[in-house]
Amino acid sequence: MYSALTLAIGLLFVGFILLSFSTPDLPPDQKPARSKDTVYTFQSNILPLLQSNCNPCHFPRGKVYAKLPFDDYKTVVSLGKKLNTRFKQKKQHAIINRWIESGAKEN
Ligand code: HEC
Repeated sequence: MYSALTLAIGLLFVGFILLSFSTPDLPPDQKPARSKDTVYTFQSNILPLLQSNCNPCHFPRGKVYAKLPFDDYKTVVSLGKKLNTRFKQKKQHAIINRWIESGAKEN
């Protein structure tokens, strides 16, 4: 009686150990499914980044707004990776690159 119960508990225990080995817990930024599937858009990710870093020059009343308006999707798309030349942080480059790699969508 006792030995059957001990065996059942033992099997359960081994099962849990195998299960925990088969699904390694990767940190979020290394989970392939998540980083590949993440779609960044102009409206949600790029415009806010430009607004907080490229004001006032590329926004209304700024000195290059007439030539390079950053509230205009077409202008920003046409610059593409050139935008990175004016950003210093790796985190900002990663946002621009993710956007371009996920199709440079507007919305
Ligand atoms: C102080 C004003 C000012 C700010 C702030 C500014 N820019 Fe500009 N930007 C300019 C001017 C003026 C030009 C045109 C002359 C030149 O190329 O530097 C320009 C040109 C550019 C160009 C070159 C376009 C081309 O065809 O080569 C890019 C790309 C650019 N800016 C991106 C940015 C980004 C991204 C930011 C924010 C991180 C930013 N700028 C912030 C004034 C500014």
